[in-house]
Amino acid sequence: MKEKLEQMRAEALAALSDRGLDPETLRIRYLGKKGELTALLRSMGELPPEERPAAGQAVNALRVMIEEGIEKAKKERAAASLEKKLSAEKIDVTLPAPAASGALHPLTAVQRELEDIFCGMGFEVAEGPEVEYDYYNFVALNIPEDHPARDTQDTFYITDKILLRSQTSPVQVRTMEKKKPPIRMISPGRVYRSDAVDATHSPLFHQLEGLVVDRGVTMGDLKGTLEIFAKQLFGEDTRIRFRPHHFPFTEPSAEVDASCFACGGKGCRVCKGEGWIEILGAGMVHPFVLSNCGIDTDVYSGFAFGLGVERIAMLRYKIDDMRLLYENDVRFLSQF
Ligand code: DAH
Repeated sequence: MKEKLEQMRAEALAALSDRGLDPETLRIRYLGKKGELTALLRSMGELPPEERPAAGQAVNALRVMIEEGIEKAKKERAAASLEKKLSAEKIDVTLPAPAASGALHPLTAVQRELEDIFCGMGFEVAEGPEVEYDYYNFVALNIPEDHPARDTQDTFYITDKILLRSQTSPVQVRTMEKKKPPIRMISPGRVYRSDAVDATHSPLFHQLEGLVVDRGVTMGDLKGTLEIFAKQLFGEDTRIRFRPHHFPFTEPSAEVDASCFACGGKGCRVCKGEGWIEILGAGMVHPFVLSNCGIDTDVYSGFAFGLGVERIAMLRYKIDDMRLLYENDVRFLSQF
């Protein structure tokens, strides 16, 4: 019995230190129902009674040793496999990223292009607050309370007197309050209207406002300026036309079309067969607006215009759904 035990202990030690052996296989081999140690325990009954206690103790000690050895081997295996998994999944943050270069968002690109064109003609860029007073957004622009023009600009009000600007025109007023003529400024920026989202509407969009005030500014100056602008934006062959319109802050007012850059005016899908594409609103600054800003209308006159940046971007890049501009889908953006 003693010899058997000694032999089994030696074998078990060797087997336990062999990292290649599965601990579960060892458990079955020694401690399972038909295991070697289990068989030894069973054979205890054959020993003379006086030898049983000592033999029992020895067998038990061996059992404890084997159990602990198996437990330890299991833990080591688990730790090793975790270690292996971790190192396989390790991310080396110092590796260079796959080459994907960033680019300007089409709206930013178009806004900068517009700024470049007007700055090239001597305009300065002005900014104004997006949270604006009703006074600057409407009243000073000759749109008093109850004026029907307020209905067409579904405005987000914050209080009775404070709103999210529905147009960039208030920057005209702020500029004229601060500066003496000559004034030549453009003001690009966000505007807000409570419109439902669809292919051509968004509650947040961008406009670019233009204003020129000086002695003897005429409608001819407006036409010349916008013609140069349209040619630079859409190409040398572009022509423009004025259609009579009404804006409260300009008199006379016009909507301005450019000849279609896609078909040259013959009529195509881009211009919906018209040959012309509406690009902006404009007019001579209304004398009320000038005098609201403390500018002497006997000495000075001015023109103004306002355009939608999304509209220009959509024309320029042939985008037919405005929502694409705000969804930030890389598959769309990476085309620019
Ligand atoms: N503020 C006008 C709008 O949002 C656009 C506009 C039209 C601005 C004519 C102007 C202008 O300065 O002269 O519809």
